[in-house]
Amino acid sequence: MRHLVSAGDLTREQVLALFELATDLKQRWKEGRRGAPLAGRSLALIFEKPSLRTRVTFEVGVVQLGGRAVYLSGQEIGLGTRESVPDVARNLSRWVDAIVARVFAHATVDTLARHASIPVINALSDFEHPCQAIADWFTLWQRGLDPARTRLAWIGDGNNVCHSVVLVGALLGASMIVACPPGYEPDKRVLDQARRLGGHVEVTEDARRAATGADVLYTDVWTSMGQETEKVQRQEAFSRYQLNETLLGFAKPSALVMHCLPAHRGEEITDQVLDGPRSIVLDQSENRLHAQKAVILDLLGGSVDDA
Ligand code: CP
Ligand code: NVA
Repeated sequence: MRHLVSAGDLTREQVLALFELATDLKQRWKEGRRGAPLAGRSLALIFEKPSLRTRVTFEVGVVQLGGRAVYLSGQEIGLGTRESVPDVARNLSRWVDAIVARVFAHATVDTLARHASIPVINALSDFEHPCQAIADWFTLWQRGLDPARTRLAWIGDGNNVCHSVVLVGALLGASMIVACPPGYEPDKRVLDQARRLGGHVEVTEDARRAATGADVLYTDVWTSMGQETEKVQRQEAFSRYQLNETLLGFAKPSALVMHCLPAHRGEEITDQVLDGPRSIVLDQSENRLHAQKAVILDLLGGSVDDA
């Protein structure tokens, strides 16, 4: 693994190795072991969009490994306006050890990776959110779910998070069904790639059919960052795709509820379901930290024995 731009760039073996490493790092941290395998190393965090989870978990994660982070808002560095994206990549490559970038256009993180001589990590683009998907499948794996025997139903927008969840799920041999209104399906290239990677992915307009017999129900906001002008149109299009108690009733009684957060409560998910006993959203959120520590350590070539 040289960069983490798309979840589809990973192999099954790399994903499983990240899960093992994340398990080890999580346990070491909880046991109070405080090594510094990344002492003297630094990350540049470029954020063109807001963030709670991703920023905190990368900043805290690298500090827990003995390194440090430099936060750069898109506005501050004028990515692509004050300075070209390749020039930003080339300059940062002379000072820091990796770039973590949350961008509007996926092409921006791709360009950073092409021109940087250090690892580039996609911290969310309009097309993918690989760090989220690794942490999500890690969360299910830590709970003892065998991905190859898991039926995951995605309810709602076939968006960036959906793309990465489907790609990592495919690598692990999961069976997935995406329920979305016409026009909001996942990108065909992602579906084709997921099928080539060994995943079973179906797309339907019928949320109840998707939920039926599911082990996991996953949803995300109807209006993602950068789509605010489409809010009203999207609220209308997605009105039959709310993850509520009725829909949850179609899933297996043991079904787990996932959401990458932030949630728009009362839109894509109800309070009752988000805060209910089937919800594992805070485990997902916690595991962003441990999974991303594994990603950073792996990309920077640090040893877990020093952690
Ligand atoms: N899930 C996620 O990436 O959250 P933030 O947008 O708060 O980083
Ligand atoms: N789909 C959402 C995910 C946020 C973590 C967005 O892009 O805004």
